[in-house]
Amino acid sequence: MNVTEAVASRKSIRAFVDTPVDDALLKTLLQHSARSATGGNLQPWRVFALNGTVMQRFRTFLASKTEPETPAYPIYPQPLVEPYRSSRYKVGEDMYALLGISREDKAARFGHLARNFDFFDAPAGFFLFVDKSMGPPQWADLGMFIQTFMLLAKEAGLDTCAQEAWANRAQSVTEFVGAGDELMLFCGMAVGYRDTEAPVNTLISDREPFENWATMVE
Ligand SMILES: Cc1cc2nc3c(=O)[nH]c(=O)nc-3n(C[C@H](O)[C@H](O)[C@H](O)COP(=O)(O)O)c2cc1C
Repeated sequence: MNVTEAVASRKSIRAFVDTPVDDALLKTLLQHSARSATGGNLQPWRVFALNGTVMQRFRTFLASKTEPETPAYPIYPQPLVEPYRSSRYKVGEDMYALLGISREDKAARFGHLARNFDFFDAPAGFFLFVDKSMGPPQWADLGMFIQTFMLLAKEAGLDTCAQEAWANRAQSVTEFVGAGDELMLFCGMAVGYRDTEAPVNTLISDREPFENWATMVE
């Protein structure tokens, strides 16, 4: 698989089978992801990986945490202006259509959102933190790491879903992994092998036409 193929075939997977992820592979992919470029070579990512029995322990731990939590940060700007609002709406509607969940069925929609907190059943995952003193440029660096990891995972035959939803469970995650006070949770990443039978995994998200976001300056 070349880079173009990895970029073209990567997509977010939201239903995984229980095939284990090799610990050594996960570690190697994370190590290779650290070759991502960062402004000033700060390498601001701080990663806590969970796999196998530790993931089981985390699921049990999280189930015991029923108190509401303060989100680590607002995931989307409020208000979310156009065209971003429509784009978000569309991918959500496309996903719920595949899941057979109607707009009125708020409980089922909420139930699917909650699957984020089970890593969509993925046997492995990681949490990506950043030092609280870092700003937008370093958050962008985290994005580089995320994308590199997802492409390398693809090459290795693994599937992924980046998960900002974890910002809503930041306190529990921080406590479980033992992250220091100086760190804040940016996102999680589900890692595993896709359930090829799950309709939700057939979702191909739209992309804006090139002309809408790029200007070839003359
Ligand atoms: C930083 C980041 C956080 C994301 N958080 C979530 C999430 O919490 N839950 C989820 O289902 N998808 C999440 N996604 C997946 C996006 O919805 C997805 O990337 C987008 O709709 C484009 O689809 P694609 O990844 O299949 O190309 C996230 C993606 C990124 C890059």
